[in-house]
Amino acid sequence: MAHSFLSIEKLTQVYPDGNGGSFSVFEDASFGVEKGEFVCILGHSGCGKSTIMNILAGLDEPTSGVVKMDGTAISGPSLDRGVVFQNYSLLPWLTALKNVTFGVAARFPDWSRDKVTEHSVAFLEKVGLAGDAIHRKPSQLSGGMRQRVSIARAFANEPKLLLLDEPFGALDALTRGTIQDELLKVWRGTNQTVFMITHDIDEAILLADRILLMTNGPLARVAESVDITIPRPRNRTAIVEHPNYYAIRNHLVHFLGQRSQELAGQPSDGQMQRPETVHIDLTDDDSDEPGEHLRAV
Ligand SMILES: Nc1ncnc2c1ncn2[C@@H]1O[C@H](COP(=O)(O)OP(=O)(O)O)[C@@H](O)[C@H]1O
Ligand SMILES: [Mg+2]
Repeated sequence: MAHSFLSIEKLTQVYPDGNGGSFSVFEDASFGVEKGEFVCILGHSGCGKSTIMNILAGLDEPTSGVVKMDGTAISGPSLDRGVVFQNYSLLPWLTALKNVTFGVAARFPDWSRDKVTEHSVAFLEKVGLAGDAIHRKPSQLSGGMRQRVSIARAFANEPKLLLLDEPFGALDALTRGTIQDELLKVWRGTNQTVFMITHDIDEAILLADRILLMTNGPLARVAESVDITIPRPRNRTAIVEHPNYYAIRNHLVHFLGQRSQELAGQPSDGQMQRPETVHIDLTDDDSDEPGEHLRAV
């Protein structure tokens, strides 16, 4: 784990509690993300997911601890890390296309204008935006289209790490489903590393290689890392037929419904807090006892 592409080491965040005191959102949280992995983090509202994300993005500084990417500690925002928030954060005075070319031109300063445009149009196409729509401003686009632009913009910059904070939270279920598929398509084509926050269990199972489960705060912990033992490419209708689907889903539901509360509020006593790996594979014939396998790391 020490050599992970993204390495989070003993991350602690303390905030004022509004009553003159302070509280720890999480203490000594430690985990790694490998290159090319798609990792989702699931946890109840307020447990500290966005706090972790903002630290990874370089938008917030932890009280203590370090985040290393490719072995180097990160400090401040960087074009190496692309961020997509729930509320789109597009520049309202630029067209969809210009919202993408703007970042691409900054990222690749020696590219010609045509190359920047061509590259940006290609990424917009991958998320289903083409024709007149790309010349419209955000106010003239639907919520789903705006979020597609945000995703195209983030991927087009080809950051080493993509950070997505509940990017589909504001979308209706149908649009959400389509954009999840598009996100998977773009990700497959680039093999970028993605770290995504969601509170939607089914979304996390569909998208992730691994799901990090966070307990409730304060003193939240990234308690488990659940392998999604369902082969890709995945399809939202076929995935539920896979023998591991409901076993994994039930585990996640049980964690969020009960254990996230039971495990909450334990101080770290200065110890590195690493998630336990949970590997559920009912198709694993080599095992004596089929069912749920827990192995600690
Ligand atoms: N800048 C801040 N100052 C004080 N408290 C904060 C700040 N940002 C977040 N918090 C608190 O930290 C906790 C975690 O917040 P957040 O990371 O936004 O949760 P999540 O994204 O999991 O819903 C919450 O209790 C929230 O109120
Ligand atoms: Mg949040």
